[in-house]
Amino acid sequence: MIREALEWLVTPSLPFARRSGHLSEFVAIAARRRRHRAAWASHEARSRAAVLRAAAAADPDGTAVILGAGHLYDVPLEELATRFRRVRLVDLAFSTATRRAARRLGNVTCLRRDVTESLPSLAPVAEPRFLLGEPGTRFVASVNLLSQLAVVATRDLDDATADRIGRALVQAHLDWLRRLPCPAALICDRAIEIAGPDGSVIATLDPLKGAAAPEHDETWIWELAPRGEIDRDHAVRHVVGATDDVRRPQRETDAQSCA
Ligand SMILES: C[S@@+](CC[C@H](N)C(=O)[O-])C[C@H]1O[C@@H](n2cnc3c(N)ncnc32)[C@H](O)[C@@H]1O
Repeated sequence: MIREALEWLVTPSLPFARRSGHLSEFVAIAARRRRHRAAWASHEARSRAAVLRAAAAADPDGTAVILGAGHLYDVPLEELATRFRRVRLVDLAFSTATRRAARRLGNVTCLRRDVTESLPSLAPVAEPRFLLGEPGTRFVASVNLLSQLAVVATRDLDDATADRIGRALVQAHLDWLRRLPCPAALICDRAIEIAGPDGSVIATLDPLKGAAAPEHDETWIWELAPRGEIDRDHAVRHVVGATDDVRRPQRETDAQSCA
């Protein structure tokens, strides 16, 4: 607790993030990860590999932009900094380790920015303009960020309003990624599974609040809260999907191809 309070105090962030709960969540993620480092390792490795696979299709002669990069747990920064001329990390806040790594590599910058362009008021939910019409961006990756947009910002609202605004924030992010002029990779939660005492799934929740995620190229399980984190009997795991480029046309479904 003392460590978390200190981190909350010393971590530079966008000013509203201290009041909105975003910075508390940022610090809490680091604490949860310290408790479950081994359980999270394969999720982080698969996220890093998915970013690199998607980046391999992008022109390296320019800038790679990584959204939600705050702690860099799931971002292959060294490899990206070697491949691209520049790397821009985007988040509401950055850990000391991330800022240190950026300084060391030399061609990496940290940009504190709200990717929704709607916080803290949420009225209206905006169509983000970031990077549109900005030359030089060759690759964008949204890394384990999307479901967070629907949760933290809407925490103080009643359930129906929170779901409606959460869905709008998620949809606006997906629509914005599709409008980018370069490959746009997405790694995000597709489902939240609650497992009971015998390990079987007793409930499934939609972290995207009904917004339709693009087809994934790969999927895996993130053991977010093994038993003992929430209570003795239940575990929470996320089904994560990686899409190399959300701008790619969706494959036709059986129903569409028969139409
Ligand atoms: C679940 S963490 C993802 C882990 C992260 N990729 C890492 O390795 O640190 C979600 C990240 O999204 C960031 N985030 C949440 N809402 C955001 C927003 N509106 N704009 C920018 N970043 C946001 C959080 O600060 C956090 O660092």
